[in-house]
Amino acid sequence: MSADDAKIGMKQGLVNYGDAEFSLFMRKAFIKAMGYSDDALERPVIGVVNTYSGYNACHRNVPELVDAIRRGVMMAGGIAVDFPVISIHESFSAPTSMFLRNLMAMDVEEMIRAQPMDAVVLIGGCDKTVPALLMGAASAGVPAILEVTGPMITGFFRGERLGACTDCRRMWGMHRAGELDAEEIADAGDRLMPTAGTCMVMGTASTMALMSEALGMMLPGGAAIPAVHADRLRHAEATGTRAVAMAAERLTPDQIMTPDAFANAFKMLLATGGSTNGLVHMTAVAGRLGIEVDLEALDKLSDEIPVLVDLKPSGQHYMEDLNNAGGAAPIMREIRQKLATDCLTVTGKTLGKNIDAAPADWGQQVVKTAADPIFPKGGIAVLRGSLAPNGAIIKQSAAAPHLMKHEGRAVVFDDLADMAERLDSPDLDVNADDILVLKNAGPKGAPGMPESGYIPIPRKLAQAGVKDMLRMSDARMSGTAFGTIVLHISPEAAEGGPLGLVENGDRIVLDVEARRLDLLVDEAVLAERRKGWKPVTHKGQERGYLKLYLDEVTQAEDGADFRFLMPARTGQSTP
Ligand code: FES
Repeated sequence: MSADDAKIGMKQGLVNYGDAEFSLFMRKAFIKAMGYSDDALERPVIGVVNTYSGYNACHRNVPELVDAIRRGVMMAGGIAVDFPVISIHESFSAPTSMFLRNLMAMDVEEMIRAQPMDAVVLIGGCDKTVPALLMGAASAGVPAILEVTGPMITGFFRGERLGACTDCRRMWGMHRAGELDAEEIADAGDRLMPTAGTCMVMGTASTMALMSEALGMMLPGGAAIPAVHADRLRHAEATGTRAVAMAAERLTPDQIMTPDAFANAFKMLLATGGSTNGLVHMTAVAGRLGIEVDLEALDKLSDEIPVLVDLKPSGQHYMEDLNNAGGAAPIMREIRQKLATDCLTVTGKTLGKNIDAAPADWGQQVVKTAADPIFPKGGIAVLRGSLAPNGAIIKQSAAAPHLMKHEGRAVVFDDLADMAERLDSPDLDVNADDILVLKNAGPKGAPGMPESGYIPIPRKLAQAGVKDMLRMSDARMSGTAFGTIVLHISPEAAEGGPLGLVENGDRIVLDVEARRLDLLVDEAVLAERRKGWKPVTHKGQERGYLKLYLDEVTQAEDGADFRFLMPARTGQSTP
């Protein structure tokens, strides 16, 4: 066996028995039990990451995607071998899916590395799966291409079109305010998720899919095709075919995921008014390649790129409408002058060539022009100040204009349990002008940085008709949520950040225009409070994955990845 042969197909990455030919003999003998011929075993091997799980409704269509990918691989002369990894669904991953993202990324990296494959197709969809797959693939360094499960199509409730999960939240809010009774909310619950696929608004799954296409890791057109459309299967088939060519070309993730490519992804994030989670996740993916995200540069970019995509929660349409409007292509065409069009993509061609090859605009209504945008600036503003020395963000496109500059009295909740216990109490001392502050909901505090930044309006205010008020925390927020909400405050309360020192009645001032978030309390008073501050503790924190997580997780500005999984910085930054 020559050294070159050893790197191809089943011959690569042999198990260490001390005799390479025996290792290959054993491997082939075992895999022949799967019914493969010698001819099949001589072909390039395309691994297919199978993220089907009975707990993951967003991945219900993964088995048929695997079939379509397998077909595409065979048409190109390879063999496809699917394998399982951890699959994470938002509603079935306690305490929060984000707690498990890094575990999934480790699983993906190590199983790609451990098993023989010349390229790998990554099947993801639900929020944390796509970042985990890209993080793992970036670290493993094997040619990789992404296929997403695709969005759900919309459902209807009594004549009204519904989208998960913006309308889940809106309708639950109506139920809390007494506008929908128990029977009506149960009926709505039957109709909010009518098909396989991911949430069909501009939530995290949609955001990550569109960012991944702009990043160059997905074949063109793949981000928005609904999960149940035949086009989704054709896209998967083409992905399988292309994976075989990528194996031959040795087109590895580091050649595609460059600082300019990440900048393209962030421009897509801003133009879509996408989920703030897109920032944390793509920061973690970039970090796997030693690339740092420059929050100030991102904020400047936000001034240049308006929100163009008219999707809920910032707008009115859904992902199937974006697909009917041409998917990612019309968005990229509209911001083309801002994109680095010479970035290489999984097609083997540049992003610019991919955009050129997309069908011309046919007069759609979903992607607006830069001259007539949904929101004149990008969706995300980066804040700093005495309450957030290392940064915080606000999704300004989903915020109320009258609260963008606001000073108010803090109404503080020490943690999620405290908030759950007191938020709806008729005795809670709170007014619509106050600022709701949630502590200990960051990476270490919760733990897992859950999507609890969308602090509900206290019941007595909701019943009085209050629809929005200024809220802030070290947590994340689902991209399907909306409101004037400051997120990702860093350092988090549990890391000793100033957020942990805020007390009821303190004055806080937010000024989005000036990009400031300040706690109006004297430093001497804070120093006194700091003497009595203690970090939160968690049951079971002495062992297992929780210990690893608490010891190693970084803050939001580093993507909340594990320190030991991040290589040394290369000195490159993005956007
Ligand atoms: Fe899976 Fe929304 S819960 S994408």
